[in-house]
Amino acid sequence: MAVRDRAFQKVFANTFVYNILFEDAEVDERFLELDEDSTVLGITGAGCGFAGMMARRPKRIDAVDINKHHLALAALKMEASRSIDDFGTFYDLFGRGWSPEPDNTVRPVVANLPDWMQKYWKTRAKRRFRKTLYHEGLTAKMLVAMRKRVGMDVTWVRETAAKSEAERVAALVEIVEPLRASFPVRAALRSPAQLLALGINFEQRDRIVETEQQDMVDFFVAHLMRVMRTDLWTNWVAWFAAAGQFNHARPDAVPPYLRQDRWETAQDAPTDISFHNTNLFDILGAAGKHTWSHYTLCDAVDWMDERTQKRLLEEILRTSRDGAIVLWRSVEEEGRFGTLPERLGYADRFERVPGSEVAHELDRTRMYRQVNFFRVAA
Ligand SMILES: C[S@@+](CC[C@H](N)C(=O)[O-])C[C@H]1O[C@@H](n2cnc3c(N)ncnc32)[C@H](O)[C@@H]1O
Repeated sequence: MAVRDRAFQKVFANTFVYNILFEDAEVDERFLELDEDSTVLGITGAGCGFAGMMARRPKRIDAVDINKHHLALAALKMEASRSIDDFGTFYDLFGRGWSPEPDNTVRPVVANLPDWMQKYWKTRAKRRFRKTLYHEGLTAKMLVAMRKRVGMDVTWVRETAAKSEAERVAALVEIVEPLRASFPVRAALRSPAQLLALGINFEQRDRIVETEQQDMVDFFVAHLMRVMRTDLWTNWVAWFAAAGQFNHARPDAVPPYLRQDRWETAQDAPTDISFHNTNLFDILGAAGKHTWSHYTLCDAVDWMDERTQKRLLEEILRTSRDGAIVLWRSVEEEGRFGTLPERLGYADRFERVPGSEVAHELDRTRMYRQVNFFRVAA
């Protein structure tokens, strides 16, 4: 790993960056094929995807993240999904990011978590949930400042969602064009602090610039335009960014784990969960053959150089159960050398899950050029 990315990783690992996962977990539900026999290894990020897995009641989950803030939040979402037995209390905590009594709500949820997580939430529950979780963390704080500057709020999102696609794009152009011309805004969007807030390391930034043939400012604008072409009523990531909250008027406008039917199925799930605040490779390296049926890697593969990506595929081949499924996202176009397994010489060992070719088009975050579901070939 390059020195600049090692430094990035060090700062990133100690900063509370995300409070939601910027991935469309509805797409994952469709193609992951999780069931009660599944054993999952994955990177949690802020944990919305892992909390959603609880509704499938898998046998075992190894949840990993180098960032202790993200892992602790993911753990709270996962444990709350199966242990808070009143849906209103659960929805307040993570749908609204708020609790009338944060300490009393959080304490029983974390009672069986590792000691460091119990201490973590003892000192932070009030701070995170007294107003709203969704204004906490680096990305959210950056978005609060952005909304204030451009005048975006719940009313703007509701009015814009009701418009036609062309009108939605026009509404956005009206807001972003003056910003594009502003030197301080351009400088801020290109800065390492901004990359940190978005969780884009330098390796991934270079992949974006190469894929899009654009600098980061044009990339952000093009991305927002793509989001405007989605159904804004149910796009919870768009609501989070533009309104600072979810659309509570629609039960299908929140991440799946926050929907009543998923919460009901997740109640008392017997899943054996281990939390690992370390690098994914440490957990892979310590595991034996036939350990996991599923690997979910967010877009962390983009953070890796080619040598590390190869090591990852080797470790998956070594530790996977027959027919295991691997999920990862990428900002990169597949390009002329094809998929990651093709490019690295593993085409005969990983095959795309049938039907999942459309997954990146379904992902309403519009952040990724690839949403990959591959099966390990026998
Ligand atoms: C890659 S980031 C990107 C953002 C992600 N797409 C999202 O929506 O949240 C997601 C998470 O991966 C974690 N991460 C990255 N590389 C890792 C590694 N090698 N081992 C463990 N965690 C890692 C980061 O700490 C972060 O919480």
